[in-house]
Amino acid sequence: MTLSRFNVRTDSKVYPVIIGQDIIDRIGDLIDGSIGRGFIVTDNVISEIYLDSLIQGLKSSGIETVTKVLQAGESFKTLESVKVLYDFLANELASRSDTLIAFGGGVIGDIAGFVASTFKRGMNLVHVPTTLLAQVDSAVGGKTGVNLSEGKNLVGTFYQPNAVIADVCTLKSLPLDDFVAGLAEVIKYGVIMDHEFFQFLIDNKDEILLRNPELISAIVERALRNKAQIVEEDEREEKGRREILNFGHTVGHAIEICSNHTILHGQAVAIGMVEEARIAVRMGKLDSSILETLIYSLSLFGLSTKIPSGIDVSQLSVIMKQDKKVRNGQLTIPILVGLGKTRMMVVDSVNNLNLVRRNGDDKQC
Ligand SMILES: NC(=O)c1ccc[n+]([C@@H]2O[C@H](COP(=O)([O-])OP(=O)(O)OC[C@H]3O[C@@H](n4cnc5c(N)ncnc54)[C@H](O)[C@@H]3O)[C@@H](O)[C@H]2O)c1
Ligand SMILES: [Zn+2]
Repeated sequence: MTLSRFNVRTDSKVYPVIIGQDIIDRIGDLIDGSIGRGFIVTDNVISEIYLDSLIQGLKSSGIETVTKVLQAGESFKTLESVKVLYDFLANELASRSDTLIAFGGGVIGDIAGFVASTFKRGMNLVHVPTTLLAQVDSAVGGKTGVNLSEGKNLVGTFYQPNAVIADVCTLKSLPLDDFVAGLAEVIKYGVIMDHEFFQFLIDNKDEILLRNPELISAIVERALRNKAQIVEEDEREEKGRREILNFGHTVGHAIEICSNHTILHGQAVAIGMVEEARIAVRMGKLDSSILETLIYSLSLFGLSTKIPSGIDVSQLSVIMKQDKKVRNGQLTIPILVGLGKTRMMVVDSVNNLNLVRRNGDDKQC
């Protein structure tokens, strides 16, 4: 069985990323050193399918486990869930040398990461991501957080894990919409920094959509190597480098909010990438043929590329004005200047974004 393995070297921690097939039930063999007790945090969907295998995989290496199952879904990414986990850890007398194992998608990873970073001022953390989005994006890089009723990810920390172990076979059971939404983040790496990867994705579209595990392993590895490179250069998003990963996310976040989160993150990012590339074309920074290539490629994977007709475009601009990237009315976002090339630039004014809508029928968010 082939495993891919590489290290992420950040200022705060160096940790391995391990990617493979059917590795959950021997996960204990893949974790280096002593991890104490394993405190598994997962959700009620994943626990039904894979929890027994994970527990078995830890047990067979002599790792004792205790599990907390949270309700699945973004609406549970809250401080209430954090409190549930603090109580769980405290009642079980968890120590700093024990390990929180985040077993799930980005929601579980973000909550568990936040709890691991704050419980007793920081305990060990291993991410075992089970969605494509979590495997190619959220499990690496150390961003943790939960939502407040006032907005998404308003409370959080930077906290790198001790290891990331991704079993691509878990993606077989992922609903198609979630799988395709995760592909938007994969395509993003190709667009912003890795032209060759972008072409590879297009050339292998059919096998990717069939979730060929060999191919998905290769894609997860390439995506994470790209992400790791950026995170190593700018761990805490302070040097103007890590922000390029936000390509498509300024418009994308506004679409998510405007749709009351009925549009999946990755899907909103796909539309956001198109609109932000359109801004680059209008600024004279990007050839319009590249915008067309982007639209074509996203459509190939079944991603939508137009703002849905139910979304009020003027409301999107209002939301973007509140974006934390706005300073003095000016928005600095990653601007695509070629396929695989991105620069941080100020866009004129958030009032003049001229987003394109689909059917012209604005409605309230
Ligand atoms: N920390 C970061 O850097 C970062 C980056 C991107 C996104 N995020 C966050 O990630 C979250 C979105 O993550 P997500 O898209 O993984 O959503 P998610 O965690 O809600 O998972 C989506 C759904 O799929 C189910 N699921 C998970 N794995 C499955 C599997 N293998 N088979 C069947 N069902 C499965 C889950 O139970 C859930 O219902 C958002 O909260 C976002 O803010 C964080
Ligand atoms: Zn994203």
